[in-house]
Amino acid sequence: MQTVSIELGDRSYPIHIGSDLIGQRGLLAESVRNRAMVVTNETIAPLYLDKTLASLGNIPSSSVILPDGESFKNLDELNKIFSALLSENFDRNCTLIALGGGVIGDMTGYAAASYQRGVDFIQVPTTLLAQVDSSVGGKTAVNHALGKNMIGAFHQPISVIADMSTLVTLDDRELRAGLAEVIKYGFIIDADFFKWLEDNMGALLSRDALATATAVKRSCEIKARVVEADEREHGIRALLNLGHTFGHAIEAAMGYGHWLHGEAVSAGIAMAMDISRRLKLIDHDTEARGLRLLEKAGLPITPPTEMTADLFLRYMARDKKVLSGNIRLILLDGIGQAHVSQDFDHSALHATLAHFCD
Ligand code: NAD
Ligand code: GLY
Repeated sequence: MQTVSIELGDRSYPIHIGSDLIGQRGLLAESVRNRAMVVTNETIAPLYLDKTLASLGNIPSSSVILPDGESFKNLDELNKIFSALLSENFDRNCTLIALGGGVIGDMTGYAAASYQRGVDFIQVPTTLLAQVDSSVGGKTAVNHALGKNMIGAFHQPISVIADMSTLVTLDDRELRAGLAEVIKYGFIIDADFFKWLEDNMGALLSRDALATATAVKRSCEIKARVVEADEREHGIRALLNLGHTFGHAIEAAMGYGHWLHGEAVSAGIAMAMDISRRLKLIDHDTEARGLRLLEKAGLPITPPTEMTADLFLRYMARDKKVLSGNIRLILLDGIGQAHVSQDFDHSALHATLAHFCD
């Protein structure tokens, strides 16, 4: 087991990464104060719920099983977590355990942020995407029909237990979607990691254990350093949203769940590269290199044909990065370098949208 620490003063926590961690007695139980509520979904429950409950040993614990899918990441389903907690008289010393991918992690985190004004929660991410991104950093949310992740809070977990053995049951499409967020770190911050990904994409796609562990650990280290520097996203943390302004528009406009989050982010990164090249921040060769890696990972580099420029603009206007009515984009300055901008030439954005949507 390897541990990456995230230092946030009295909200610091460990990110444990390794194999067979769920079954390791004590690891999960050591952070639970009195009672635990495991939140999971109907796909993950038959695979890992019994093991998780068993590893809690004598700690009184219950579970709530939600339907599976991004389309259920909403206030109605969130309410089921509150109903389970209230009907079983869980008090404010309880600990919620998010057993699942980013959907379960984001929902459980938001339930923990708001139940009795805030209780502890532990992230047990079971998708690659959740292990490299969503379980770390304390962003929690549910979707609204009008916008992705629009109802939420910052609430850090008290620990993250990334059991890589769970990835054996993850299907290939979900694995590839997780790789989009891994590649993102190379694009925005770490050119060496980008090169490593170019050299090791085959190993990652064939689920080589060492390559996967390296990618998960490096991703968590990068995310931990960014969150430590800017927990509430007043500056550098916004870079983690490379491709997300376009991607969130795709997810919401297509109907949640049709395009996976990672797939939408990948197409969004391709669009962010296009506009960065039009603004002369990167050259054709850099753009081509970026597209090659996304394609090598089996990810889309164009948005769905249903997306029009108007649809993009309508959803992008509601993005959380919009400030005072201005769309802010993450633009690339090269491989491993990016910045946030709101005063870019909007004709470049319109040209990008026309290029991808016409
Ligand atoms: P997901 O949670 O929907 O999981 C993907 C699918 O895999 C689901 O069907 C799930 O049931 C299944 N699954 C999960 N673990 C499995 C396993 N081990 N074996 C078999 N099947 C398994 O999707 P995701 O890609 O993990 O997360 C996407 C969500 O994360 C989006 O809602 C996105 O907005 C959010 N997100 C949040 C952050 C953040 O910082 N909070 C960052 C990135 C993404
Ligand atoms: N996934 C974006 C962030 O955590 O800030």
